[in-house]
Amino acid sequence: MKRYDVLTLEFAKGLAQDMGKIIKSNANSLNWTKTKSGFYDIVTNVDVEVEKIVKKSVLSAFPDDSILGEETGTTESSASDRRLWVIDPIDGTTNFSKGIPHSCVSIAVVEENEPRIAVVYDPFMGELFEATKGYGAKMNGDEIHVSNISDLEQAVINTGYQYSAEKMREKVLKDYEAFFGKVQAIRVFGSAVLDQCYVAIGRIDAFWEYSLKPWDVAAGSLIAKEAGAVVTGIDEEFSIYSNSILATNPTLLPKMLKVLTSA
Ligand code: IPD
Ligand code: CA
Ligand code: CA
Repeated sequence: MKRYDVLTLEFAKGLAQDMGKIIKSNANSLNWTKTKSGFYDIVTNVDVEVEKIVKKSVLSAFPDDSILGEETGTTESSASDRRLWVIDPIDGTTNFSKGIPHSCVSIAVVEENEPRIAVVYDPFMGELFEATKGYGAKMNGDEIHVSNISDLEQAVINTGYQYSAEKMREKVLKDYEAFFGKVQAIRVFGSAVLDQCYVAIGRIDAFWEYSLKPWDVAAGSLIAKEAGAVVTGIDEEFSIYSNSILATNPTLLPKMLKVLTSA
């Protein structure tokens, strides 16, 4: 691995763990929660504080890089836009605001639209997921791999909803109905980033969702891919800007796509 990538990865891991401490220690004492675009779309003081610290730390360590964060948008670098850091300060904010211990901080370094380095930290489980393109994925230092479940009837699959994406409502409900009775279980955990990490580590066998944003998929998709998952769009190519994602173990891919594209 290139020395600069090793340096970046170690920096991102340290930062994610520091942010995790802030997230965990504030979990039961929020200063404020506000709605954003609709009553379902919320932000807390901790989302904003964590994003500010991440931006400041990244820019002081790597002043030539740019940053895209969910809560504060893009900071364009004056020097170059060679590397873009894509940050979700808390993925799973609704869980976090309710004291449900299932959320994480997500940090990805993207080059030419492709995630190259990914770090996700869940402070409630103490789980640090990481990946570098071409070098596999790890959780707390150990290599991780997707499951080998090949039968839909044995598969536990996971999805999530963008409540703001009203236009997807019909599709989401049809998908749900189409899988009903065909899989072992369908879960909605409330953190798309952890869903992708859970595919990577084989806790769930496949994950799909529509209308996610780059900060919801940049780190998670690389971790899933590097652990052996296939990450694709549904009826489209996948990129961090695409409208859909399916992350699945390779053997389930045709079966998942068949249901999703015919629903
Ligand atoms: C949300 C979570 C959720 C997913 C939503 C996302 P946020 O991100 O990942 O699981 O279903 O689509 O917006 O708002 O908690 O960062
Ligand atoms: Ca998110
Ligand atoms: Ca968020």
